[in-house]
Amino acid sequence: MDKNDMFRRELVDVHGVPLFWTIAEEWSKIEGFEARPDDLLISTYPKSGTTWVSEILDLIYNNGDAEKCKRDVIFNRVPFMELIMPGYVNGIEQLEALESPRLVKTHLPVELLPSSLWKNDCKMIYVARNAKDVAVSYYHFYRMSKMHPEPGTWEEFLETFMAGKVSFGSWYDHVKGWWEKKKDYRILYLFYEDMKEDPKRELLKILKFLEKDLPEEIVNKILYHTSFAIMKENPATNYTVKTGEEMDHSISPFMRKGISGDWKNQFTVAQYERFEKHYNQQMEGTTLKFRAEI
Ligand code: A3P
Repeated sequence: MDKNDMFRRELVDVHGVPLFWTIAEEWSKIEGFEARPDDLLISTYPKSGTTWVSEILDLIYNNGDAEKCKRDVIFNRVPFMELIMPGYVNGIEQLEALESPRLVKTHLPVELLPSSLWKNDCKMIYVARNAKDVAVSYYHFYRMSKMHPEPGTWEEFLETFMAGKVSFGSWYDHVKGWWEKKKDYRILYLFYEDMKEDPKRELLKILKFLEKDLPEEIVNKILYHTSFAIMKENPATNYTVKTGEEMDHSISPFMRKGISGDWKNQFTVAQYERFEKHYNQQMEGTTLKFRAEI
């Protein structure tokens, strides 16, 4: 397929959620994904720390052996389940070929998750990040990653984000949907801000959830290898192998800033006020609380 036909296309609605057009076309294959009971699902809204927690988990699964975790790039070690782009990638086939225990990445909202993941009662780790930082990170990602439609100006993108018309839909529905599911399924719900504040505390939570014990020395090694500075320089985690038609790191690197509170550098006062009003309406009634800075 001509690269001009693949990228920068309008998103396509799948059961009310805008998705990359080839994901929509291949939807029946994605729905039919066959989970295994020992799969670990890593679920996030885009730009919430997916790559970070994926690298932490691959290191845990490999007992902190950083060299082993350079065996391949992160998107092959932890396949992106629903990403099917003919001629480029097929998450479902990648996962079929992987030995157990598998790490499976998804950005799907709960209502679109393939049913076999629920039926098999797979353990799931969800990472949520505050909406304003996600919006900023997503804007820069839209600019550099051509899987997305053109973002327009920041002002325009922010409106699209608030309306839930971005890839994978409404942030508000996503974080709330997964928060509710936590009551009935084995879901560890983490926050990017907590991971920034105290990465060791959060790593220990993950180990407990996985019922895994690692010596202190290996825990510290994992923390070192998953720091932003190290992951930014690591070709197996920083996405620099994706170039040209897919991503343009000269517009904005995938490993951009890795901080909490960057929204303050992007939002005008008027945008902030409008956003907060809308946010409070969207998040009314939920027990889910975020910190927008640490
Ligand atoms: P910024 O654009 O704010 O820098 P995802 O992996 O879900 O796409 O999320 C990407 C965001 O996580 C980017 O945010 C990226 O810089 C940040 N990130 C990646 N690795 C990180 C790490 N080790 N520590 C902190 N943030 C990290």
